Amino acid sequence: MFMCPACGLGATLPRCEHCGHIFPSVDGIYELTGDPPINLDEARGARYIGYERVGAYYYDRGWASTACQPADLAMGGRIAELVGGGVLLDVGCGGGNYAVPTALHGCTVIAGDVSRVMLSLLQSKAEANRVPEGRIIPCRMNALAIPLAEASVDGVLASALLHLISDPAHVITEIRRVLRPGGRLMLTTNSPGVRFADPRQSVGGRPQETDRREENANARYLELEGDFDRRYWEILNEAGVHASYAGWKFDQFAACQAAFGNMTRVDIPFSASVSWTLADYFLHRMGGKGYSRQQSVPDDLHEKAFARVMAEFGETHGPDFASLRFVGRADGLQLHVFER
Ligand SMILES: C[S@@+](CC[C@H](N)C(=O)[O-])C[C@H]1O[C@@H](n2cnc3c(N)ncnc32)[C@H](O)[C@@H]1O
Repeated sequence: MFMCPACGLGATLPRCEHCGHIFPSVDGIYELTGDPPINLDEARGARYIGYERVGAYYYDRGWASTACQPADLAMGGRIAELVGGGVLLDVGCGGGNYAVPTALHGCTVIAGDVSRVMLSLLQSKAEANRVPEGRIIPCRMNALAIPLAEASVDGVLASALLHLISDPAHVITEIRRVLRPGGRLMLTTNSPGVRFADPRQSVGGRPQETDRREENANARYLELEGDFDRRYWEILNEAGVHASYAGWKFDQFAACQAAFGNMTRVDIPFSASVSWTLADYFLHRMGGKGYSRQQSVPDDLHEKAFARVMAEFGETHGPDFASLRFVGRADGLQLHVFER
């Protein structure tokens, strides 16, 4: 299944049966690339941003620790079906939001990510959810050079990954190479958090089902979040520090459809209410410098700006402003599927 870097033949971990090469591993993570977790240096080939420094503040659910979200369990069940319970490569697996539920539904998951921090979060999540031994194989790898043999896996999941790499076409070619004929590539969206109801958006093409009271609370939540963010950057901009965006805009669905010659949309029936406070999510993440755009902000300036906006907001909106709650629905779960 894996490609031996010493003899170039297909191999199983931990030792190549052809040449005896031992695949290095550290703390249970196979080290299948020598590439750094973040490469924004154009001179060194395609650029990408691994989540090494975003780590525990990882997009919208860093605060949810090791618990599997019901929506992710539903998604994992459908992914396992689409892979026929076989071997899934979850490339850019992050903290295992989908790798863990898919393994719990019976697949063997090669969990690949360029970031060790994210892979260690995945390990904790797998352990906390009692994933059977050997069902998840954590591998540090670069999606630009997937260390697997041709036609070696039944399915590939690339969830919220392709926009983080400046040459997604190359990653799609790599994914196609490792899929067996008839195997499937599955994509979620570039911003998985969008499926959580925002009264100003619709999810999966359907209007939101929040009631008016919830809508008002949500509107206030989003307003405070936006104001907080603006004020934070205003202070930093005055100090000469600007947000740095590391992401590349492109249409991932069109690119995969062009490469595979087909595309199916799979809707996953699911609906549940979700809820969190400003403190739970936005403030926790922003306070920890957990947004990609904060990565170039020096720690001391960040601490000062964040503390100042917290104080200003406490004065303007009252000491309890951080307990303002967002209430929404998780629904409109969807996968885009491409068959090799
Ligand atoms: C937005 S997170 C998505 C995580 C997970 N797939 C999910 O949907 O919950 C993107 C992940 O891709 C990883 N990543 C970014 N560039 C990568 C690359 N070149 N090779 C492998 N992983 C990469 C990051 O480290 C991060 O963990």
